Amino acid sequence: MPDAAPPAPAKPEADILSALGTRSIVLVGMMGAGKSTIGRRLAARLRLPFVDADTEIEAAARMTIPEIFERHGEPHFRDGEARVIARLLDGGPIVLATGGGAFMREETRARIAAKAVSIWLKADPDVIMRRVRRRADRPLLQTADPEATVTRLLGEREPVYRKADLTIASRDVPHDRIVEECVETLHAHLCGQAATEPPSDVASAAR
Ligand code: S3P
Repeated sequence: MPDAAPPAPAKPEADILSALGTRSIVLVGMMGAGKSTIGRRLAARLRLPFVDADTEIEAAARMTIPEIFERHGEPHFRDGEARVIARLLDGGPIVLATGGGAFMREETRARIAAKAVSIWLKADPDVIMRRVRRRADRPLLQTADPEATVTRLLGEREPVYRKADLTIASRDVPHDRIVEECVETLHAHLCGQAATEPPSDVASAAR
């Protein structure tokens, strides 16, 4: 008789999806941390819809973010941002990339804690500076010294970003590697074991 087929490899994606239920995965962190880039790939990997909160805010306001800041000011933008994120979290599960300031609002953090698993994409200041320099569409960085602004914002925000459920170091390595780390860390958090850990019988057979 042929040997029995080896056990099917564990599918961390399926485990993550069933543990999530209607909860979403929310990426938080500074401008330039890679929330949209990683979020889009993570969503594809999990076969969940990807939503970018900034894009949704722009669609709801029929204006770009710089226009919202210019015409109505930051407090108005923040109110709209909180409303849009609340609405999106009611329609989960999705992978949601939030703007860098969204997690600073306590009400939004509470909603995210209730309806999602949050991942802080933590990037070093030099990585952030290198990335944000490429685009001029971030009103908060239209200052005489954007580098000093990033340093100040990081000082204010990192203690709050740290409250996210999970932290992944965002750095200049292939995006798929960061996505893989997100999948492994989500699996460990939601399902109680590392996603790549082989079943014990496979591990002992390999020894
Ligand atoms: C902001 C970050 C931006 C955008 C807005 C304000 C912030 O989003 O929401 O310009 O306060 O850090 P990204 O983090 O996607 O750049």
